[in-house]
Amino acid sequence: MKATNRATQDLQLDPRGRLRHLLSIEGLSRPLLTKILDRAQEFAATPGRKHELLHGKTVVNLFFEASTRTRTTFELAAKRLSADVINLDVAGSSTSKGETLLDTLATLQAMQVDMFVIRHSASGAAHFFAQHTAPGVSVLNAGDGRHAHPTQALLDMFTIRDSLKRIGKKDFGALRVAIVGDILHSRVARSDIHALRALGTREIRVIGPRTLIPAHVDQLGAKPYYRLEEGLDGVDVVILLRLQRERMSGYYIPSPGEFYRSFGLTRARLKQLGPHAIVMHPGPINRGVEIEGDVAYGERSLILQQVTHGIAVRMAVMAMLAERDDARTGATP
Ligand code: CP
Repeated sequence: MKATNRATQDLQLDPRGRLRHLLSIEGLSRPLLTKILDRAQEFAATPGRKHELLHGKTVVNLFFEASTRTRTTFELAAKRLSADVINLDVAGSSTSKGETLLDTLATLQAMQVDMFVIRHSASGAAHFFAQHTAPGVSVLNAGDGRHAHPTQALLDMFTIRDSLKRIGKKDFGALRVAIVGDILHSRVARSDIHALRALGTREIRVIGPRTLIPAHVDQLGAKPYYRLEEGLDGVDVVILLRLQRERMSGYYIPSPGEFYRSFGLTRARLKQLGPHAIVMHPGPINRGVEIEGDVAYGERSLILQQVTHGIAVRMAVMAMLAERDDARTGATP
């Protein structure tokens, strides 16, 4: 393990192996991932039910990049756990007057915040934040640059695990999963690959043009395919990704239309998949670029279920962080 990865692991787990921050999937064990998914399953069984687990705690959503799904489901999850939730309007905050991330953190911590949910365009921003929080304050990474999007990976794993019966497979060890599109710029792809590996997935494929697949992706445990037809053959789960144009400098593909012709998942191409294969996408989708509209909301698609599962998964992570802190301080929720 590289020094930085080791440092992230030391930062996000306490000496007893419990989560103190959620920064990355890398380094999280199969038992810990399974525990989070099991906890999420409990919350998913009673949708909409209020719990008192975060009563008296304050959660701040700090989104320096756009978000619909992640920000809203974090807010819903925190409210379902009875937390006080602040959504900082970053554009209207004092960061626009030159206040640094660290000074913003110090200022918010002075308001006795217990959890920060942060999304930032800089890879490592959540790690940096976690390095500077007071003991007992947790950081949840809601996506940092190209690096990691751990709760997206957890909800993706939850969705796959929830669909095993439909797919006709017993466990991850029997699954072939393909991630299609802009792997190079995708924090979701990286986090999904780490999670799929940790859960023992039989085969992980990444499919896309050579320019959008990282060199040495095989070292992450994924096999590259540069032709969609070849890569989709025999897969049980297809995870599509949008082109992350906000992270691209220069030209990676001839045009979005050309990308669609070569790598877009259309109704015609769906026929290539086995009868029980499922289609996923973290969103936001770009119709006519990586996916045909009919496929996005067709019978194989679990895209909206992924969104729903995001609430239970984020509740599970926040509950586990709060319980660790309550155990540490002797507080009763
Ligand atoms: N999947 C995802 O992170 O979506 P948002 O950008 O809408 O949060």
